Amino acid sequence: MVDVAEKETMDDITFRSDAVLSDVHLHAPNKRHFMVRLNAVGQPVFLSQFKLLSDKNIGESGIKNERDCTKEDIGDQDKGKEELDDKGISDVAILNNKEREANFCLGMEALLDDDGDLEVVRRPRHETDTGGEDFSREKVFPIILTKGGEEVFEAEDQECMCRDIIKIEHTMATPLEDAGKQIWRGAFLLADYILYKRDTFKHCTALELGGGTGITSIIMATIAKTVYCTDVGEDLLAMCERNVTLNKYLTKSEGGEVKVKELDWLKDDFCTDPEAYYSWSEEEIANLHDHTTVILAADVFYDDDLTDAFFKTLYRITHNLKKSCTIYLSIEKRLNFTLRHMDITCEAYNHFRDTLNDLAKIRDQKMKYTVEPIKLSFHQFIIYERMEQLELWKIAAEPLT
Ligand SMILES: C[S@@+](CC[C@H](N)C(=O)[O-])C[C@H]1O[C@@H](n2cnc3c(N)ncnc32)[C@H](O)[C@@H]1O
Repeated sequence: MVDVAEKETMDDITFRSDAVLSDVHLHAPNKRHFMVRLNAVGQPVFLSQFKLLSDKNIGESGIKNERDCTKEDIGDQDKGKEELDDKGISDVAILNNKEREANFCLGMEALLDDDGDLEVVRRPRHETDTGGEDFSREKVFPIILTKGGEEVFEAEDQECMCRDIIKIEHTMATPLEDAGKQIWRGAFLLADYILYKRDTFKHCTALELGGGTGITSIIMATIAKTVYCTDVGEDLLAMCERNVTLNKYLTKSEGGEVKVKELDWLKDDFCTDPEAYYSWSEEEIANLHDHTTVILAADVFYDDDLTDAFFKTLYRITHNLKKSCTIYLSIEKRLNFTLRHMDITCEAYNHFRDTLNDLAKIRDQKMKYTVEPIKLSFHQFIIYERMEQLELWKIAAEPLT
């Protein structure tokens, strides 16, 4: 049951003019995100499921380049996709490499118009639906399952404990300061790379900065031993922890663990206040410093001050690590026309690149940072638009003493 005041809020989901909405949620089919509850600050919370390529499927077929995609493949893929649709897992689902490649080709064709602009056209559910259909983007009509959500998760858990489905609670269209409650494409890109390079990350200890909903950390924990997923804000951290719990069946069997912790780049130290729920114990800080070899961050470079604070935190943490560490950063170059430049620019991206260059130039006798871009030619394990504005950077942080 939903009380009247809450129902009114739910019926009146308006997107504030200062709200940001991730394309990940905008393009997901309605049946894949159910509205499950309102969070502590009254924002509607949705539950989305994303299918991952399973271990079994990984070695199944040869690796193919997207331009080698044939019509036959696309035909096969369509059949596979129909099957997935029947199971209720559509645009975000993948079965095997061949299908994934074909899907990618289809996806890219569908996404670009004659000028190369992004244009999303939805495939009708049935062939017969095509006649006279309006192909414009569907509106999101969330389906409210229940208030609270617990019962839904229990029912869903019974139904879907598949090792290749990740379930994530998130909100949609938040103010910028709550952007971490949505999933961003950079999180998928980083997760893709982790799945692709799983041998590199086996049993490691990793730290994610600005983990948001926790999706990248959860995927990392299917391979790694311990992942410290960090962010700021009780509400966001609670949502992240809930996602970790929801996906225990994915990580537990591999022995991986996600620890949700507060780590604010605007503060000089770890939060150790015993009163704070997501604070660190001395043992956890010691474990982080002794064992961390991987640091992750997805789509956290959109404000210059925060970018500076991020790199300051990165510098401080890597200085205190006992071992060499590799840092992986994903970023989406969001282009805007600015009057100041009278051109299309991405100032946040430019600032990120400048800061990255500064890091590579550090010569302080203690650390050496080697920066290189990662080519995005690896395969997709999750379906999303791997657009050219997405980038992945690798930084090797080595102590000099
Ligand atoms: C665009 S979201 C990306 C979230 C997630 N990595 C993803 O890609 O889905 C940026 C993240 O940076 C986090 N963030 C912003 N300021 C922060 C700060 N001062 N300290 C730690 N995290 C911060 C936000 O809370 C948010 O989770």
